Amino acid sequence: METDECIKTRRSVRFYKDEVPDNEILNKIISSAIYAPSGLNLQPWKIKILKDRDTIKKISDLCQKSRFAAQAPILLIVFLDRDVTYDFTKDVLSCGMLMQNIMLMANSEGLGSCLIGEINDKSDEVKKISGVNDGKLIFMGIITLGYQRGVTAVTSRKPVEKILI
Ligand SMILES: Cc1cc2nc3c(=O)[nH]c(=O)nc-3n(C[C@H](O)[C@H](O)[C@H](O)COP(=O)(O)O)c2cc1C
Repeated sequence: METDECIKTRRSVRFYKDEVPDNEILNKIISSAIYAPSGLNLQPWKIKILKDRDTIKKISDLCQKSRFAAQAPILLIVFLDRDVTYDFTKDVLSCGMLMQNIMLMANSEGLGSCLIGEINDKSDEVKKISGVNDGKLIFMGIITLGYQRGVTAVTSRKPVEKILI
């Protein structure tokens, strides 16, 4: 898949089949995503992979609008490692770069994904449920991963003229 096609065909997928993607595909996605740029090349991210159905359901129960997360066979929880930070804003940007790479790789491997940000204020609960008790890890966001069920609507974009200043 060409880069342009991969970027433009990625959609936030909110309906998933039960089928669990192979570990091989998951490893490929993560192994490529870590080539994301990061400030000072600190690579300040950590990822917790969740596949356990009960745990995924508990995370989805924290959501108001993103309960679809319960259907996803895999959740990737991205954390910022405070041990390797140097500038909070830049480190958060670096985690965003990683997350975008994950979602683009997922698309190129035929998987759907969606970034869930609505529970970013529920860091303590997310960490407790996912069994992450390292105080140095700052919760950044969750990515759902799995095979898309049905068709996802195309989202619009502001015209380029509107965003150039
Ligand atoms: C920082 C961020 C937070 C988001 N949080 C949520 C969320 O909590 N729930 C959800 O369903 N989608 C969430 N999304 C997905 C956006 O709604 C989606 O990217 C946007 O509507 C454009 O649609 P598209 O990704 O299909 O192009 C989030 C996206 C970003 C970048």
